[in-house]
Amino acid sequence: MLIKTNRDGFCQLRNSDITDQSLYAGRRDLMKLMASGAAGAALSTWASREALAQGVSAIARPGKLASLPSVKSAVPGAVTLEKLTDYKDASSYNNFYEFGTDKSDPASNAHTLKTSPWTVEIEGLVKRPAKYTLEDLLKLSAQQERIYRLRCVEGWSMVIPWIGYSLSELIKKVEPLGSAKYVEFVTLADPKTMPGVGSRVLDWPYVEGLRLDEAMHPLTLLSFGMYGEVLPNQSGAPLRLVVPWKYGFKSGKSLVKIRFTDKQPATAWNKAAANEYGFYSNVNPNVDHPRWSQATERRIGEDGLFAKKRKTLMFNGYEAQVGQLYAGMDLKKFF
Ligand code: MTE
Repeated sequence: MLIKTNRDGFCQLRNSDITDQSLYAGRRDLMKLMASGAAGAALSTWASREALAQGVSAIARPGKLASLPSVKSAVPGAVTLEKLTDYKDASSYNNFYEFGTDKSDPASNAHTLKTSPWTVEIEGLVKRPAKYTLEDLLKLSAQQERIYRLRCVEGWSMVIPWIGYSLSELIKKVEPLGSAKYVEFVTLADPKTMPGVGSRVLDWPYVEGLRLDEAMHPLTLLSFGMYGEVLPNQSGAPLRLVVPWKYGFKSGKSLVKIRFTDKQPATAWNKAAANEYGFYSNVNPNVDHPRWSQATERRIGEDGLFAKKRKTLMFNGYEAQVGQLYAGMDLKKFF
C-alpha cells in the first residue's frame, strides 16, 4: 500500500482486470435465470434446489477447497445484490504482505502457510480469557453467508460472498470488562512459512484494531470462508476479519490473538505512516489520502483501466447501518 505506486498514484491493475469474466452470478442473475426458465439446468451446476429451499447458500463452489456450508444472513445490510467478483480475481489479486508486496505474491507463495492446528488466544480485559481451537471457533455460532463490498485504500473494490458469523458472538462469550474500550487483532508472523516477514516493510506481526462498539457491530464478520468453501490461504486462512465499511487493511488476515484493551491499539499501517493511515480508516469519499483522492474506485474484474471509475460511497455504502457509531465525530480529524 505504501510502496506500490503507478502513474495513477496507487492502484496496480492487470490486463485481465479489463475483461469481465464472471463465473459467479449474484442473486439478481439467478432471478433472471429463473424467469427465463433456464434455471433448471443452471441450478444443477451452481446451486442445488434443496439448498435454495432451505435458505442455504446458493453460491457455486469453485471446488478447490473443503466446502463450508452456511445459511443466508438476516443481519441488515449483510447481503448486497451487486454482481459478485470472480473467484479467480478474489483469490489472485490480494494484499497479504507476509507473502510479498505484489498483488500476485500471496496466491503464489501462501501455500506454505500451515493452517492446522490453529488456535486463537483471547486475552486482556475480559472475564473469560481463553485459547480457542479453530474447530471450537467454527462451531461457536451458525455460519452465515454475507455478500460484502470491500474497498481497498488503494482505490479498488470487490464484492465477495464471505462465510462466517458476527464477531460479537465470540465477544459475548468472553465477556469484556467494563474497562475494555478497544479490541486489538494480532495476526500470524511466522518467518518459517511467511517469506515477507523477513522484510522491514511493516513492523510484524500485522496488528489491527477496532473500538469495542465497532467490533460489536453485527456487520463485523469473523470469517472462515468464501464462495462456499474455507478461505484460501492468500485470503487469510483459516480465519480473518471482514469490516465492510472500513478500508480493506482493517480486515486482518490469519488471526492468532484477540486482545481487549483500554488504550487505542498501535496498528501496523498507522505505525508505518500515521499521516496516511489513521486508526478509524472508515471508507470516506470526502477525506482524501494525502497522496490520492478517495472519491472513486475501480471494481476488480468489471471496470477496466479506461472505464470511468465508479463513485465511492460514504462508509462504503453501509452508512445506514454504521453511521450512528460516528455521530458528532470530526471524520477529517479521526480519519
Ligand atoms: N492482513 C495481514 N495479516 N497482512 C496484510 O498484509 N493486508 C490488508 C488486509 N489484511 C493484510 C491483511 C489489506 S491492505 C487489504 S486491502 C486486505 O487484507 C486485502 O484482503 P483481500 O485479500 O481479501 O483482498
